[in-house]
Amino acid sequence: MFLARKINSLLSFFGLTIVDKSVLYDWQKGEVATSQDLQLPAGAFEYLNTENPRLQELRRRYSVFQDNASIPVVWTDEYVQSYGLQSFRGDNCYVWQTRDPNCAEINYCLTAYYAQKIDTLGLLDKNCEDGLFGVHTYTVDSRCISRDLLDSTVELHFLEKHLGLSQFEELRILDIGAGYGRLAYRTVNAFSNVSSYLCTDAVPESTFLSEYHVKFRALENKVTVVPLDEIEKRLQNQTIDLAVNIHSFSECTLEAIEWWLDILAGARVKHLFIVPNASDHKGEKLALNSGEDFSSLVEKYGYKLKIKAPKYEDPMVQQYGVSPTHYYLYQLES
Ligand SMILES: C[S@@+](CC[C@H](N)C(=O)[O-])C[C@H]1O[C@@H](n2cnc3c(N)ncnc32)[C@H](O)[C@@H]1O
Repeated sequence: MFLARKINSLLSFFGLTIVDKSVLYDWQKGEVATSQDLQLPAGAFEYLNTENPRLQELRRRYSVFQDNASIPVVWTDEYVQSYGLQSFRGDNCYVWQTRDPNCAEINYCLTAYYAQKIDTLGLLDKNCEDGLFGVHTYTVDSRCISRDLLDSTVELHFLEKHLGLSQFEELRILDIGAGYGRLAYRTVNAFSNVSSYLCTDAVPESTFLSEYHVKFRALENKVTVVPLDEIEKRLQNQTIDLAVNIHSFSECTLEAIEWWLDILAGARVKHLFIVPNASDHKGEKLALNSGEDFSSLVEKYGYKLKIKAPKYEDPMVQQYGVSPTHYYLYQLES
């Protein structure tokens, strides 16, 4: 229609276009409710509040711990206060679930089938999704799924494929920028050979939430949350096989990344897995959110890139799967 074409040519300046409603899925018409009830276990409502003395203590400690790791760039007070502690697994800055690229129902469905296909270790069966703490879920092939579950499955599959996680006699992992302990929970459920999984972070709320989450999931015999001001000392007495940094370095300053790399190289951590944010929807560059590449910084500390691979092995899924990016696996040169 002539009028629609005219309007579309104007709208294209704003990245918009008019389309016939009949070509849209229901979720694109805004007719599907996306909000889900907040399900909380007993005690969570009372404990997860900003006045909690433990959180206050961590805030005090982190504020006097003057080092390059704690200079906020993305994780400012305002950013942290943008989500409620009780819904820490919800669609928020820890794991975007409806606002990242390819986060519609159909993308979740595709990604769930992809995860099932690659899941030779049965990670999906070892890790269920219980829908707690505000996580955004769908049911696909009778399984409750979330981005938390799918991302963790795809990440662990990648690490198994390239590092053989299940073959380690005793697997010792350090998670830098561990958020609420998403991968710690999934890894311990998936691999019985994990002997120690350390979660650390430079944001007090994240440390507070991971402490709570680890305790709630009863993982304390394997997972330890190490506050920022204790991590250097802890690594002097502990061997780590693999450090992971997932969607965290991209949200740090270069100085903070350098602070962490110095610690990793000093502790002779052999393997380093980094997942950058993909502002270009591809993650082709190991970059900060600003677009600045930090790969040379990683190399400066002796880490050599061994594998760079798309998050999804199938190019079609990499195009349409939930939150595509690239995975980077580095190894410390001896
Ligand atoms: C997008 S969240 C990802 C959380 C977790 N890695 C995951 O994938 O579920 C980013 C994490 O980086 C942490 N973070 C922010 N600045 C940091 C810094 N300077 N050093 C270490 N972690 C930082 C945040 O507290 C948050 O836990």
